[in-house]
Amino acid sequence: KIRRITAPEIAARKGKEPIVSLTSYHAHTAAIVEQHADFILVGDSLGMVMHGMENTLGVSMELMIVHGQAVVRGTKRALIVVDMPFGSYEESPEVAFRNAARIMKETQCGAVKLEGGQSMAETIRFLTERGIPVMGHTGLTPQSTHVMGGFKTQGRDEDTWPDLIADAKAVEEAGAFASVLEGVVEPLARKITEEISIPTIGIGASAACDGQILVLEDMLGLSDWVPKFVKVYGSLGPMIEEAVRSYADEVKSRDFPGEDQVYR
Ligand code: KIV
Ligand code: NA
Repeated sequence: KIRRITAPEIAARKGKEPIVSLTSYHAHTAAIVEQHADFILVGDSLGMVMHGMENTLGVSMELMIVHGQAVVRGTKRALIVVDMPFGSYEESPEVAFRNAARIMKETQCGAVKLEGGQSMAETIRFLTERGIPVMGHTGLTPQSTHVMGGFKTQGRDEDTWPDLIADAKAVEEAGAFASVLEGVVEPLARKITEEISIPTIGIGASAACDGQILVLEDMLGLSDWVPKFVKVYGSLGPMIEEAVRSYADEVKSRDFPGEDQVYR
């Protein structure tokens, strides 16, 4: 039996080989991703990527659980981290625990992730002390888009650094095993990575971080638009379009189904 990578094993990677991670929302892509990734995030970006939502705010517990279950079923080795959706943890540590426990029970994932620094420290501590490994997420936090006034790169103004550093430190001190650092300028990402003892997982946060994460569909070339920080490694969009076009042409010309696809 293949043993899954654990949250403490991810934490212990600080200062060693970079941590590789991607998002995945379904069983078959997760099985491919885990051949090369240390952990897989079932991110609430699935609201936009899979369900055509405008932002992540409309994502429900049920949606996270359904996709979390699919990814856990499709994998054997990677640590599976499931995002806590907007509204499921901010109110109180108790509400957060109830929802995080539900996610862990129903999906059998190995950890949850939630957004926020100093404001969420008490909640992160409450969960970790009760058996739930927590991954933090600071810098650009998409669930706060309406407060931030859109998706804005953080730390461009050095006056904002103390608060952003305090957020990352609060997450570390509260007991998180790792923390996503999203959309921050390189020198700040380097400083935060140096100053905290848990791995930083960067997205739009430079190679100074201890690991990297991208949204799978973005790096595969399936998204119409991607931010500057995404490198597109595949071209699945054009490949799918090409296959669908060939199929449509062959249905119309009655070349499909052909000899090989017919029961005689
Ligand atoms: O939801 C998501 O995909 C994320 C990351 C990309 C970090 O939170
Ligand atoms: Na997310």
